[in-house]
Amino acid sequence: MEMIREYADWFYLIGAVLFILTLRGLSGPKTAIAGNRYGMIAMAIAVMTTFFVAENPVVWMIIGAMVLGAIVGIARARTVPMTQMPETVALMHSLVGLAAVLIAVAAIIHNNKLIELGPDLLAANGVNFHEMSRVHLFELFVGCFVGAITFTASVFAYGKLAAKKWAKTISGAWVKPVQAIIFIAMLGFGVHFFLTGNMTSFWAMTGLALAFGWVWIAPVGGGDMPVVVSLLNSFSGWAAAGIGFTLENNMLIVAGSLVGSSGAILSYIMCKAMNRSIINVLFGGAMGGTAAPTAGAGEQVQRNHRSGSADDAGFLMSNADSVVIVPGYGMAQGRAQNAVKELANILKEQGVTVRFAIHPVAGRMPGHMNVLLAEADVPYEDILEMDEINSDFPATDVVLVIGANDVVNPAAKDDPTSPIYGMPILEAHKARTIMVIKRSMATGYAGLDNDLFYNDKTMMIFGDAKKVVEDMTKAINGTGH
Ligand code: TAP
Repeated sequence: MEMIREYADWFYLIGAVLFILTLRGLSGPKTAIAGNRYGMIAMAIAVMTTFFVAENPVVWMIIGAMVLGAIVGIARARTVPMTQMPETVALMHSLVGLAAVLIAVAAIIHNNKLIELGPDLLAANGVNFHEMSRVHLFELFVGCFVGAITFTASVFAYGKLAAKKWAKTISGAWVKPVQAIIFIAMLGFGVHFFLTGNMTSFWAMTGLALAFGWVWIAPVGGGDMPVVVSLLNSFSGWAAAGIGFTLENNMLIVAGSLVGSSGAILSYIMCKAMNRSIINVLFGGAMGGTAAPTAGAGEQVQRNHRSGSADDAGFLMSNADSVVIVPGYGMAQGRAQNAVKELANILKEQGVTVRFAIHPVAGRMPGHMNVLLAEADVPYEDILEMDEINSDFPATDVVLVIGANDVVNPAAKDDPTSPIYGMPILEAHKARTIMVIKRSMATGYAGLDNDLFYNDKTMMIFGDAKKVVEDMTKAINGTGH
């Protein structure tokens, strides 16, 4: 135990290096498992070292919290369906924010107890009361309000992604002034607290930061939610780094900063994928409309489209040279990934070249499609990113769109009036034949109609993704009838 204390900084350093290797590993599917392992080892080192370094730890509380957390974590990880991952991630971020607020509150109560001892007593023990309280007040001020904003904003993001009734998108001319008033008032109380240590100001700042998190995210439109989720990921990292300063824990500062900066980079990449700036996403209230995460709720459109059966589609694909599969949220919703893998295998057996095209914001979270296809054991070399595959569409015989909508909407390229104009898309409309599996003509997440479905080259195959794909496989196998 003494040894761990003595070498604590070394252990923290090893942990920090392992966290960096984790991020590096997670950047590619082939190295992701190793990356995850580094992360687990780093976290174990961090927790164990902190445990031994703590002065007079309340052992039963720490172990109790760890056991409780592990039980809830393991249970949730085992049961959460892939379709609910985005909202689960948002909920996790909210916990980091809440932890930052609670630690700030605990630290301040502790600090006040020290203050009660009186400056003389502290000075007699060699503690410079003035300096200690100033630096602490600043850390608490920043850590607490970042944590509070992260908490309510993440709870709202969770509600929105899980289509909860209470998470309603707000809009109107009053929104921006209200946001500004709350933000300025929050900063005002925070600065007052920092200058005077006044507790009423601290509580007012915390309350206003909680309110701000909500009114800040509530107007953000449906199509922009991915950026919000990754930005909150970044915020939760900065909140953790803030706690690290309060608790004087170097490991937490490093780990929090890594999460904070990687989340910020991811937000930037996502913004680029949607052709938007962060400022525009957060304060533009753009893409307007309410998110429609429960697919099928969109309006019916009276335009002509062509539909066909799974049998026809199976026949056409088995006679093609090349097929590109574009998965979207509907594949996740219908849990069709294993059936899709079967279909790809059977087509390959018939000599068809089959590849998968992934849009960076397909589904409801970054990497959503990659995770599902990896779960179904689709070989990594068959999975191509948007930039790698887009130039191949004109030479592709059949593109099979499975439950994707916004990410293949040509309006993003040709309609300057469309809210998604400028967003890069998978150019499925350029393929020789287009097949689209979905349950109806309903709109996708951004609530927009899609010209692809009315294209002369397009055949709609209506039904649940899994069922339709299984029927296609049966048709190709000749076992359909
Ligand atoms: P969407 O545009 O949401 O379209 C999904 C389509 O799947 C819907 O039109 C729906 O049509 C169909 N569908 C749903 N369940 C189905 C099922 N069981 N079987 C067959 N079809 C089904 O999805 P997308 O193309 O993947 O685009 C993603 C959208 O989500 C973008 O707007 C993106 O900005 C947003 N978003 C992305 C993220 C990230 S980070 N990926 C996070 C939040 C939001 P029917 O109802 O007619 O079946």
